[in-house]
Amino acid sequence: MATITVDGQEIQTKENALLIEELLANNINIPHFCYHPSLGKDGNCRMCMVEIEGKKRPQIACDTPVVDGMVIRTKGEKIDRVKRSILELELINHPIDCPICDQAGECSLQNYYMDVGLYESRLSTPKTHGKKHVDLGANVVLDQERCVLCTRCVRFTKNITKTNELGVLNRTDHSVITTFPNQPLSNAYAMNVVDLCPVGALTSKDFRFHKRVWFLKPDEAICNGCARGCAIYVDHHKAKYESDAIFRYRPRFNNNINGYFICDFGRLSYKQENENRNSLPSIRGKESEYEYSMMKILRLLKHNYGKMTFLISASLSLEEMFVLKKMSYKYDAYLSGYGYVYDESFGDDFLKVNELSINRKSQVFLGINTEYEELEARIKSSELIVLFGRDDVDAFAFEDKTIICFNDALPKEKEKFDVYLPIKTHTSKEGTYINCDGYIQYSKSHVETNNDTKSLLELVAFYCEDSHVEPKNVWDEGLQEIMQGITFEDIQIESIKMDIK
Ligand code: SF4
Ligand code: SF4
Ligand code: FES
Repeated sequence: MATITVDGQEIQTKENALLIEELLANNINIPHFCYHPSLGKDGNCRMCMVEIEGKKRPQIACDTPVVDGMVIRTKGEKIDRVKRSILELELINHPIDCPICDQAGECSLQNYYMDVGLYESRLSTPKTHGKKHVDLGANVVLDQERCVLCTRCVRFTKNITKTNELGVLNRTDHSVITTFPNQPLSNAYAMNVVDLCPVGALTSKDFRFHKRVWFLKPDEAICNGCARGCAIYVDHHKAKYESDAIFRYRPRFNNNINGYFICDFGRLSYKQENENRNSLPSIRGKESEYEYSMMKILRLLKHNYGKMTFLISASLSLEEMFVLKKMSYKYDAYLSGYGYVYDESFGDDFLKVNELSINRKSQVFLGINTEYEELEARIKSSELIVLFGRDDVDAFAFEDKTIICFNDALPKEKEKFDVYLPIKTHTSKEGTYINCDGYIQYSKSHVETNNDTKSLLELVAFYCEDSHVEPKNVWDEGLQEIMQGITFEDIQIESIKMDIK
């Protein structure tokens, strides 16, 4: 450990660590463009200057190791003047088109200008212009005039995806970011450059001009695209007289799972969530009232007591699986988790994994049977089949059984179900998930549904005359006892590795 003094205050840091990392970790505002924790230092932007006692000139914090006893100034007339001059250089050819820029509201350049810039332009010659719309491929658009040449995007394709699509072309103020000939930006993680870009130079074709960022409400959730379960923000907004809608997913830092990134497939999967949240119940394919369908299911459950099979999805939350187990006892049903979704062309050696069902580990943890042989025999002797969170009716020989489907997406062939009842989708409910590596995480998003749709927890509570309508209730009423000492409060804060065979 080392003790350093920053703006008159002593702080404890790691000896030899990068000064910028220690300052940022202690919530000390250090302007920076080229440094990023996932990409390391590059030293090209010079924005992170600090004064260090004993050094003649200001130094860049991203390339200065911490030494015990250092005395540092990050603010004050002298260092502010240095930062202002560097910013003036960065902005010399900038178009200052913040009012129409998609990054406005979350732009480092804008923030730093408000912190230490605040100067009038002294430029009397025309600005060097660049192209305002360069399609780099993979949903990413470049505005050359807004680029501060921090090279974060270039280093991402060089060091993280190792696909090397981007580079810097030309010199001096004609330098621009470009793709190499016939090599568009097309890797499976390409859209992360939009998050990495500290200014509005790289924007997402999918999101740009759809919503001002200050209107968006970011909920903490996890992606349900595959069993990696990357931590994400669900940015949504409910405008007056309009439905709540998701506008984008963004990566949420989680050192155990996805670091700073997510894949493009997962990022764009919010669109299905928007579509699925609006599905309506149906009885043999004909649209029905929610409450009427709920009651019809209750009658079917009571009528078929002891003669039914519950087939549950491996993407339901831990709490949902736990209460469904209880419900299977109540109705004397056979509970099976057989059949999870797998795509052997999906995974790679970074984040994506072939297992697409996001919570199979919870099934294993709860000891839910996933064998086919026993399920086949049970289906034969059942009168009623109830599918929870799935609609793969064609995968089984259900013949003339009565079939109920609770799902968060409209089934492809809804007429195949005696009753289809929509349930709240992944981003409209809270819940716990255990990812492919055994990390348990809590998803907290609350995008409103636009109709009467209830969560599966609420429905199971109704059918079991129980009170566990929220995940917390489920933990309090039994789940906590089997959780290896992990509490509901623990997982609100961080992901935790569990011991699951
Ligand atoms: S496009 Fe953005 S990330 Fe890339 S060099 Fe320019 S400012 Fe940096
Ligand atoms: S890797 Fe899987 S969990 Fe992560 S963003 Fe992609 S689809 Fe979602
Ligand atoms: S962040 Fe230090 S030089 Fe760019």
